Amino acid sequence: MANILLGATGSVAAVRVPALFEALVAAGHAVKVVATDAATYFFDPASLGEHLVRDADEWPGREAGHRYERGDTVLHIELRKWADAFVIAPLDANTLAKLAVGLCDNCLTCVWRAWDLARPVVLAPAMNTLMWQHPFTRRHLKAIAADAGAAHIPMHLNDQQLIAQMNDRSKTLRIVSPISKTLACGDVGVGGLAEVADIVTAVGEILDKVKG
Ligand SMILES: Cc1cc2nc3c(=O)[nH]c(=O)nc-3n(C[C@H](O)[C@H](O)[C@H](O)COP(=O)(O)O)c2cc1C
Repeated sequence: MANILLGATGSVAAVRVPALFEALVAAGHAVKVVATDAATYFFDPASLGEHLVRDADEWPGREAGHRYERGDTVLHIELRKWADAFVIAPLDANTLAKLAVGLCDNCLTCVWRAWDLARPVVLAPAMNTLMWQHPFTRRHLKAIAADAGAAHIPMHLNDQQLIAQMNDRSKTLRIVSPISKTLACGDVGVGGLAEVADIVTAVGEILDKVKG
C-alpha cells in the first residue's frame, strides 16, 4: 500500500491517534506519526513506540550540548521523502492557521512546508464549534485549497458544499469534514473529529485519485 505520515496536533480528539494509527496499519499502510508537543498531552506516546516522532527528535542530543554536524540527517526532510501521503488528524485551529500561511516552527509544520505538492494530503479538522465557525477557518482552508489547485471557490457556500468543492477540484487535497456531536468541552455542534473509518477511507480515495 503506501507510506503514510500521520500528523497529530493538540486537539482533544488526539485521544484517537492510537486508534487511527492501528486502522491505517490494518488497511495495509506503513505508518509513522509526527506529533506536536500539545498532541502528546492526549495519548500515551509509549503506545506508538518507535513509530512516533516527537518535536525533540529533530534536535538529537540538544540537552546534552550536541551540535549539528555536516552529514547528520534532517528529520523533517527524511519524513517528507519517506511519506507517500500526509494525513493530519486531528488538525487543530492553531496548526490549521500555520499551514495556511507557511509557518514552520515544529517538526510537523516543517514537513508541511517542505511537502512535495504532487503528493496527497488529508486534513481532518477538530475544534470547538465556534472555532470552526470563525471566519478564520474558511480563510485558512481556502488558502490551503488554492495552493492544492482548487482556487476561486465561492464563499457563499455552506460548509459541506465548500469542502465538497475543494475536494472535487483538487487532485491532491482531501478535507474530511468534522462531525456534529457533543464535544469534549460540553458544547453541542460541529467540530468533532470525523470517524476513524471515514479518515482511512479518505486516505485510500486520495491515493487512488493521485495514481489515476
Ligand atoms: C484540554 C484541551 C483541549 C483542546 N482541544 C482543542 C481542539 O479540539 N481543537 C483545537 O483547535 N484546539 C484545542 N486545544 C487548544 C490547542 O491545544 C492549542 O491551540 C495548542 O497551542 C495547539 O498546539 P499545536 O497546534 O502545536 O498542536 C485544546 C487545548 C486543551 C488544553
